[in-house]
Amino acid sequence: MPRSSRFRKAVRTGGLMSVCALAGGALSVVSAQSQTSRAPAKPPAAESHAEALVSQGRQIFRFDDFGDNAFWSGALQLDKAIAGEKNGGVGPGVSPKTALSVGLKVDANALPKSVLSALKAGKVDLNSPATTLALVKLNAVVGVKPHFKKSGALSSIGLTCAACHSTVNDSVAPGIGQRLDGRPNRDLNVGAIVSLAPNLKPVTDLLGVDAATVKKVLAAWGPGKFDAELFLDGKAFRPDGKTAATLLPPAFGLAGVDGHTYTGWGSVTYWNAFVANLEMHGQGTFWDPRLKDAAKFPVAARAGFDDVRSEHDLITARLPALQLYQLAIPAPAPPAGSFNAAAAGRGKVVFQESGCARCHVPPLYTEPGWNRHRPEEIGIDSFQADRSPDGVYRTTPLKGLWTHTKGGFYHDGRFATLLDVVNHYDAHFGLSLTEAEKRDLVEFLKSL
Ligand code: HEC
Ligand code: HEC
Repeated sequence: MPRSSRFRKAVRTGGLMSVCALAGGALSVVSAQSQTSRAPAKPPAAESHAEALVSQGRQIFRFDDFGDNAFWSGALQLDKAIAGEKNGGVGPGVSPKTALSVGLKVDANALPKSVLSALKAGKVDLNSPATTLALVKLNAVVGVKPHFKKSGALSSIGLTCAACHSTVNDSVAPGIGQRLDGRPNRDLNVGAIVSLAPNLKPVTDLLGVDAATVKKVLAAWGPGKFDAELFLDGKAFRPDGKTAATLLPPAFGLAGVDGHTYTGWGSVTYWNAFVANLEMHGQGTFWDPRLKDAAKFPVAARAGFDDVRSEHDLITARLPALQLYQLAIPAPAPPAGSFNAAAAGRGKVVFQESGCARCHVPPLYTEPGWNRHRPEEIGIDSFQADRSPDGVYRTTPLKGLWTHTKGGFYHDGRFATLLDVVNHYDAHFGLSLTEAEKRDLVEFLKSL
């Protein structure tokens, strides 16, 4: 693992502690003196502080790669695969057509008017990798952050949170439009994109398998899925032979929700630090001694993921704003006419009376408190739960369900439709719902 050379365990010495104590003493004398001479600066009001953090957080969410370009370009050389041989890279290159077909999205607001009108008139060459490069350089490919040489040429690319947790409204063309932050990109084929990398050695080294095996694993993910636990436990397939990857979840409507991820790894900010360091391969600091468990997390334990210390920390200072931004993104309301309001009204009663609201407590639609359950409580297998520290599934907050019907429901998309979910609960809890009640319940779920 090339990163491990950069990892350093913090060493606390008695000498260092006493210097700190001295400095602390000196500081308190200074502040006591300055208090007598002038009043301390007034801190900003909570509202303006929050506003500033939210807008910083939006920038970070969309455009910050935390220095992960050293991994995606420097190590995996993904930029070379995009450029193609004709443009100084390797292989055929990635045309905009291919990029859109693997679910990458284009931010129309980043395009100059001339490009937009050329696009609308069908005058942009969507078969040329040079066009993709131009879009990347315009910072228009959602979740792909360009870095430049002094000459203005592209030097590298990094990945941002927006790649997986944003999409666009298709206002210009399919895959091209205004950004919709927080919506899971269920078109994005992360596996196909990573597979393009000319150098998979950092991944094969980490997992201890060959490139053919890694490619087989990546090909099995399919659109809208990623396996955040693969780099911890090396488990690529479930016992039934299907991919171990999970669906990309929404990153909206999270305020008030305790546990995050499908298996409740921790809070939003816990998971942000986890993802930025361990998945995106940004440069930062991360501490979680639970990952020392070599039986459960053999890959993570071997790589020292429990204690990551990069020399230049580009993540930690970003966490407060990033957290506040995600907590501030509201769950989008369903479009008018997308559900039957009268049926949804009746379905609300079914939701209450069937015990759904016992776990999906309105208006959070997850439990206030420790919102996790053992697999048998919801009648499913424990495979994914067992890949997490607590062996549980987190009660999914249900608002904005209508934004991610593609790819199915539950962590792995095992239920293709909401009716399939309802049928599962009907059998598991012995609810004996009538067909009409099931339909009403589905309309209610679509209305959230
Ligand atoms: C490669 C795709 C990918 C990228 C990039 C990514 N995530 Fe995620 N994110 C996921 C997946 C998959 C999960 C579900 C993981 C699980 O349950 O094991 C997830 C889970 C989450 C959750 C939990 C949501 C919930 O309700 O439980 C949050 C919050 C989140 N990500 C925020 C972020 C932020 C912020 C970034 C950037 C620092 C980021 N993600 C980068 C794929 C991604
Ligand atoms: C014992 C607690 C509990 C009860 C009761 C319960 N759920 Fe759930 N629900 C969960 C958990 C935990 C998950 C996450 C499962 C997973 O991702 O594998 C979930 C997931 C879901 C999902 C999928 C969300 C998504 O984005 O994939 C829907 C929809 C849902 N529940 C609706 C209902 C309805 C309708 C009822 C009543 C018939 C109900 N739930 C009863 C705990 C519960």
